[in-house]
Amino acid sequence: MGKVIVVVSGKGGTGKTTAVGAIGSCLAAMGNSTLCADCDAGLRNLDITLGMTGFAVSNLSHVIDGECTLAEAVMKHPTIENLSFLDAPPFYRAEYDLKKAKDIFAEIRETFDFCLLDAPAGIGPDVEFAASLADMAIIVATGDASSIRDGQVMSVKLREAGIEDVRLLVNRVRGRIFSATGSTVDNMIDAIGARLIGVIKEDREVTLSANLETPLVLYSRKAAAKGFLKVAQRLAGVDVPISVK
Ligand SMILES: Nc1ncnc2c1ncn2[C@@H]1O[C@H](COP(=O)(O)OP(=O)(O)OP(=O)(O)O)[C@@H](O)[C@H]1O
Ligand SMILES: [Mg+2]
Repeated sequence: MGKVIVVVSGKGGTGKTTAVGAIGSCLAAMGNSTLCADCDAGLRNLDITLGMTGFAVSNLSHVIDGECTLAEAVMKHPTIENLSFLDAPPFYRAEYDLKKAKDIFAEIRETFDFCLLDAPAGIGPDVEFAASLADMAIIVATGDASSIRDGQVMSVKLREAGIEDVRLLVNRVRGRIFSATGSTVDNMIDAIGARLIGVIKEDREVTLSANLETPLVLYSRKAAAKGFLKVAQRLAGVDVPISVK
């Protein structure tokens, strides 16, 4: 039975799409059948991160509306075996049939070992919809005060939505900024109230790989790529210690 993990953040631009692409690629490279699904209707850009621009013909809306099957909407990655992509619709509709969506995600759990949902930022109905389909959530936060505050709110909302397994991924760690603002990973864990799943350093290779439309795991062996691989290993049940330095 596969696991559906929604990747969220209170504040925008913290690295959700980057995380979904990088962790999903690593899980697939480790041999897990993995689906990266874009749930950021309207602002979707997971296809760019995965290097799959223009691949998708159909999206999640088409599957929910019965216009195509899940298998028809899911696109296989051209080079990373075991990795698939499901595109987001161009806009979110409040009247989605939740029961139909839950049935589709039951099929996803039967087909894939992992499904990562790239959620929009914030706490709107579109995020609630994505959260209601997931078994676990990862909050992506940076050390900025506003990101921590918004992560706090998000953590409460996710638990209210019934997700018990909520984890924190600290992204874009830059030593000097963290020490200058007094923000530490420990403070963030306490403030947001979620167990740590990983710490990712600020790394220009992330932006370079995104701009070249090449998945990070194929482009880089440096700090961020290593950090995302460790998160994937932890999700797959490998005991990898977390360094907060
Ligand atoms: N660890 C990192 N080091 C350097 N740059 C990063 C890192 N993580 C993310 N970025 C950059 O930050 C920007 C925002 O990342 P991304 O699009 O993944 O965020 P997001 O949370 O999905 O944003 P949105 O809320 O708009 O959906 C991108 O330009 C990305 O390349
Ligand atoms: Mg995004």
